[in-house]
Amino acid sequence: MTTANCSRLEELTAKYRELHGTEPEILVRAPGRVNLIGEHVDYNDGFVFPAAIDRDVMIAAGRRTDRQVKLHAMNFNQSSTFTLDGVQPATDGRERWSNYLRAMAWVFHDEGLGTAGINAVLLGDVPLGAGLSSSAAMLVASGNTFAAAAGLEIDPVRMALLAQRGEREFVGVNVGIMDMYISALGQKDHALLIDTRSLTFEAVPLPETGVSIVIADTNKKRGLVDSEYNTRRAECEHAVELLREHIPGIKALRDVTPAQFEQYASVLPEVTRKRARHVITEDERTLESVAALKSGDIARFGELMNGSHESLRIDYEVSCKELDAMVEAARSIEGVYGARMTGAGFGGCTVSLVADTAVERFLDEVPALYKKATGLTSTIYVTTAAQGAQVLN
Ligand code: GLA
Repeated sequence: MTTANCSRLEELTAKYRELHGTEPEILVRAPGRVNLIGEHVDYNDGFVFPAAIDRDVMIAAGRRTDRQVKLHAMNFNQSSTFTLDGVQPATDGRERWSNYLRAMAWVFHDEGLGTAGINAVLLGDVPLGAGLSSSAAMLVASGNTFAAAAGLEIDPVRMALLAQRGEREFVGVNVGIMDMYISALGQKDHALLIDTRSLTFEAVPLPETGVSIVIADTNKKRGLVDSEYNTRRAECEHAVELLREHIPGIKALRDVTPAQFEQYASVLPEVTRKRARHVITEDERTLESVAALKSGDIARFGELMNGSHESLRIDYEVSCKELDAMVEAARSIEGVYGARMTGAGFGGCTVSLVADTAVERFLDEVPALYKKATGLTSTIYVTTAAQGAQVLN
């Protein structure tokens, strides 16, 4: 753990002691993520390439003898209590954060896994609403807390699937598997090439020196994201239905090769065609970018990141002027290999691959360029790939 994480852990345990008069029996953490490439393909059975980041949600907890869950969120200085039998979403908007724990309690119960009452204190530093998967971090950390409290050993891939169900069916956002998968399974200093169909991965080491991952938050809140996200999903499914008449047996856009797409693209209405083209070309870019990384070709990786952004902007139409301005500012710095939006889009963050020697200039110049273009202040994080969820004690 980093020094910053250690001091947060101390803060968290001190609060737990203050509220409950004992040491916590359970300490867990689960990180947010940044997706390097492979965007909007995880609900098309495609390939994604995210890394866990060094920002996380930490939970300190202890078992109770009853079926109550008593929570305190340090970030909001807010408490929330619910019972494990017949879990409902929070009615008070100020307790919305507790829905992630409620979601996991609900899904554990629904899948016949044991649950136990707990006292828990939460402390997170994944920026909220920035597209760095604070929700997945909450869900995976909560799942690991409930598992530890009930003495369950849950395979991390299953934990990711439980968290996805929690978000889809309890929280109500129809997400893919990427965010919870990387939060549960991320590896320090690696990005994971995840096959979202087979749910297997390959851990690919990131260069140890010479290049940094720089995240830039546009501080544009992601307004339309949920409704547009669901529309994109439906458009992709529609493309599969239409293409299936010509390419029998395809289950998802993942199954359509670029050559087949060329051959049959004309059967799709224009917008559907653009959406499908993004997904099919993004899968190709992701696989090629991983090959480039493995052969040490960072320049090619950067070009493919740039290509990914253009495809998301023009064909998938999930970028926005703030993301485009940030990408443009980043690309104007010498030593930036590539820059793209990351996550669902419509605001949130960009990710850039930056030569170590250019990071200082990036930090000095990009915020000013971005502010000039948009009037907004940005937040920049130089990050490294962190370990996925852990039980710390
Ligand atoms: C959100 C979803 C993910 C994924 C990305 C886009 O982060 O939670 O499942 O679809 O958008 O790549």
